[in-house]
Amino acid sequence: MKAEAYPPMDSSDNKDGLRKELSDEKFIAWSKGTSERSYDVQSLIEHLQKAGHAEAIGLDIGGGIGAFAKAVAESCTNPKVSITVVDPGVDALDQKMESPNVEYQLAPFDESYPSDQKFDFIIFRTVLHHLISDSEKNTYETQIAALSKAKSMLKDDGIIFVTENFYEPMFGNDLTSRIIYAVTSSNAVAWVARKLGANTAGEGVRFRSSDSWKQLQDTVGLEVVDSLRYTDWGGANMPFWQRLPLLCKERFQAVQVLKPAGKDAAPNA
Ligand SMILES: C[S@@+](CC[C@H](N)C(=O)[O-])C[C@H]1O[C@@H](n2cnc3c(N)ncnc32)[C@H](O)[C@@H]1O
Repeated sequence: MKAEAYPPMDSSDNKDGLRKELSDEKFIAWSKGTSERSYDVQSLIEHLQKAGHAEAIGLDIGGGIGAFAKAVAESCTNPKVSITVVDPGVDALDQKMESPNVEYQLAPFDESYPSDQKFDFIIFRTVLHHLISDSEKNTYETQIAALSKAKSMLKDDGIIFVTENFYEPMFGNDLTSRIIYAVTSSNAVAWVARKLGANTAGEGVRFRSSDSWKQLQDTVGLEVVDSLRYTDWGGANMPFWQRLPLLCKERFQAVQVLKPAGKDAAPNA
C-alpha cells in the first residue's frame, strides 16, 4: 500500500512548546489513513502473536487521535489487546477514535506521567523526533529519558515498538538531521524550513541517521531485535532539490522492535 509523506501543517498551531497537531485537519486526515493494512500495524500484530500470550497490554506514547491503537486493538484478536494512548493533545478536538479496548490519558509522557503499570509493548510511532529541547545536548537527553522511562515500564519480555524516519547524510555521521533540527527550531528561518517542505517549521524536530538512533539506543541499553523498512513510503521519494541543501543521501521510514540489551537479539537486526 502506498502512503503519503507526512503532511505539512500550519506552524501557528504550535503552542506551549508542544506540537498541537490534533487541531490540524491534514494531520487528522493523515492519521485516519492508518488501518489494519498499514505495514507497522501488521508488524506489531505479528510480534504480539509471536510472544504467545492470551492478552497484551500496550501504551501508545504520543498516539494522537488513536488511529494506530484502534487499528491494532481491533484487528488483533489473539492475543486480546488493550492500549492506553498517552498524548498531551488528545482532547484538543473531539477527534479521538473511540474503541472498546483503547483508552486515553491527556498528558505528556515525561516525569509527570503517573504509572507503575508494566506493559507488554510500548509504542513510539513517529513521536521520538518530536521530543526535543532547547539544544542538541538537551534534546539528546530528552530522547534518552523517554526511552529509558519506557524501558523501565516493560514487562520481562516486553517490547518497545518504534516507527521512525531515518535521514542518512551525504557526509558525516548525522549531519542532515542536525541541519533539520537547526532549521526547524529557529523562528528566524522558518520560511526556509517551509520551502524545504518541513511541516515543523518554527517548532523543531530531531530525526537521526541509523547510526545516531543506534547510539541513542545503546546509551539506554536497548537493542534492535527486529526491523522492517517501509519500501512503499511516499516520503522516501525526496527530490534532489530538497535533499541537496540538507546534504541528505537518502530518507526512509522503518519499524524497529527494541528490547533491553541482552534479551533475544536477532543476528540480522
Ligand atoms: C507525528 S504525531 C504522531 C501521532 C501518532 N503516533 C500517529 O502515528 O498517528 C506526534 C504526536 O506526538 C505527540 N506528543 C508531542 N510531545 C509529546 C509528549 N511529550 N508526550 C506524549 N506525546 C507527545 C503530539 O501531540 C502528537 O500527537
